[in-house]
Amino acid sequence: MKIGVFDSGYGGLTILKEIRRRLPQYDYLYLGDNARNPYGSRSFEIVYEFTLQAVKALFERGCHLVVLACNTASAKALRTIQQNDLPALDPSKRVLGVIRPTVETLPEVTATKHVGLLATPGTVKSNSYYLELQKMDPEIHLTQHACPMWVPLVENNEFASEGSDYFVKKDIDALFRQDPLIDTIVLGCTHYPLLLDKIEAFIPKDVKVLCQGPVVADSLENYLSRHPEIEMRLSNRATVTYLTTEHTDKFDSLASLFLGKPINSHTISLTEGL
Ligand code: DGL
Repeated sequence: MKIGVFDSGYGGLTILKEIRRRLPQYDYLYLGDNARNPYGSRSFEIVYEFTLQAVKALFERGCHLVVLACNTASAKALRTIQQNDLPALDPSKRVLGVIRPTVETLPEVTATKHVGLLATPGTVKSNSYYLELQKMDPEIHLTQHACPMWVPLVENNEFASEGSDYFVKKDIDALFRQDPLIDTIVLGCTHYPLLLDKIEAFIPKDVKVLCQGPVVADSLENYLSRHPEIEMRLSNRATVTYLTTEHTDKFDSLASLFLGKPINSHTISLTEGL
């Protein structure tokens, strides 16, 4: 069986790339809900509904474990899916998110105990990072700032353009105005590493940027080593299949650019039969 990796669009590719670098032996199924992206400004109910459809689609296509490589979906849908839906769908299957593993690394990364979070409006509004951090290290001061334009810039292939400089600088300045003591910025949206060059150009030199790809890859490796009953079900042919809810031409050209190699995706519908 495969490992499913889900995002609202292209952002999860930044996670898949690192997971495959760390765990190349497994078979992966990537799903981007590009047709309905962005999720970041959608309501709790809609993000939950869309995410559940995606998880079901990945289970139906042979995934035993699904990583929600999307902070917005992790914030708004993960807990309900784990607690309410999985027991009815298939209690032996697993759905994992990206927020807790990210928060777990923070006590080791920040020296000033002042951390900035850049994320979608939905993730910020959910307060999930703050709530997780309270359990981990309540002394860490978290400043959250929503960047509503960043996902559309990436999804529309504007991430390298001069136009994106304006929005990246504006949001980073707004974050540091709220707390100048920040020494670590969490990119709490899986699309944002695609803007990393721009982000690094506008932050103070001594500030660290935490990208989630390596963090989630470490956490998955650790999870599989602690759960042999899941690991033994995974197939080892080192393949990856890409699914999108958009037209394949659009997905293939942008995803190939992000991954640095040509890919051929397949279109699926998440609403057929509903
Ligand atoms: N990659 C998603 C995340 O990590 C982006 C959400 C969106 O579609 O706005 O939050």
